[in-house]
Amino acid sequence: GKSGYDHYMLKEIHEQPRALRQCLRGRVDELSASVDIGDLGDLSPTGIQFVACGTSYHAAFYAAQLFQSAGIPAQAFLASEYATSPPPIGDALVVGVTQSGETADTLSALREARHRGARTLAVTNVVGSTAARECDHALYIRAGPEIGVAASKTFSSQLGALNLLALATTRSDEARDIIAALRDLPGQVQELIDDSDAKEVAEHYQDAKSYFFIGRGHMHPVALEGALKMKEITYKHAEGFAAGELKHGTLALVTEDTPVFATTVGDGEQATKTVGNVKEVEARDAPVVAVTDGQSDIERYADHVLTIPETHPRAAAVLANVQLQLAAYHTANFLGRSIDKPRNLAKSVTVE
Ligand code: M6R
Repeated sequence: GKSGYDHYMLKEIHEQPRALRQCLRGRVDELSASVDIGDLGDLSPTGIQFVACGTSYHAAFYAAQLFQSAGIPAQAFLASEYATSPPPIGDALVVGVTQSGETADTLSALREARHRGARTLAVTNVVGSTAARECDHALYIRAGPEIGVAASKTFSSQLGALNLLALATTRSDEARDIIAALRDLPGQVQELIDDSDAKEVAEHYQDAKSYFFIGRGHMHPVALEGALKMKEITYKHAEGFAAGELKHGTLALVTEDTPVFATTVGDGEQATKTVGNVKEVEARDAPVVAVTDGQSDIERYADHVLTIPETHPRAAAVLANVQLQLAAYHTANFLGRSIDKPRNLAKSVTVE
């Protein structure tokens, strides 16, 4: 059951600390700063291609960034486009990111890759799923069953598991910091959920017709995911962008009626540039909701702040996303939407 929550989605948002602990359990050794995901650690890919749909595509996009930063050529593809314009595979490992392991588009992209001789890996929540059975390897995200059609805890656990995959198969000078950040993540997610102001923000902007989400680097996939969640459960227009992209067209739509959720962490160059983009939307009188660890001066230009604890930027992506999940959830709840079963959508999409 829903254990006292109004919706499965809210229950699943609250289950994230536990799901993340479960994902990491027995796989991370802090003393030696090493990760053990069994035989998968021996994969040492020279190139990697991710295929996925929807929320899982956003996780895949984030994962491609992790491998790129380790010097491994990596790309994320929408599974439904993969076979239509097939990229050169070479000896790349092809990774299907799929919560259910049953998404037709993803299964068919993985089959295409196998047909062309690639080794394949399924990153999935469901043991014994078609993706897990058909791929050469499987990495389980261990989030537990997710009932809400909108993916919430499984996205966070995908990011967790994909970090483990990157740590186990590549070298990183930051491994120790990243492992420490992953260890702290479940507690930080709990802290964030307990203190979140997302409900007030949702109440304030529930009548908006359109919402925008911006972020750079790891916050770009988070912006895309924030917008998808807002759309699917509130039935309102929402779009996510790389922070620098808004001014290349969409800024024309930004008015005092379009709240912009802007995410920054740290006080480095990326944050400074995003703050610059925020000034542009603020100058058009758009309400700004800053999702931030408070290190940059974004708050000066923001009407509302959703705070995330300080951590490594990789883990910050998980935290920022939880704030956006809560903002979407509460907006949909104020609007009285069918949150667990949004119109027109199915949990698992088994047609192409
Ligand atoms: O089961 P999968 O991860 O393969 O599903 C892919 C998408 O259909 C899925 O992520 C969808 O976008 C989410 N349920 C949206 O919240």
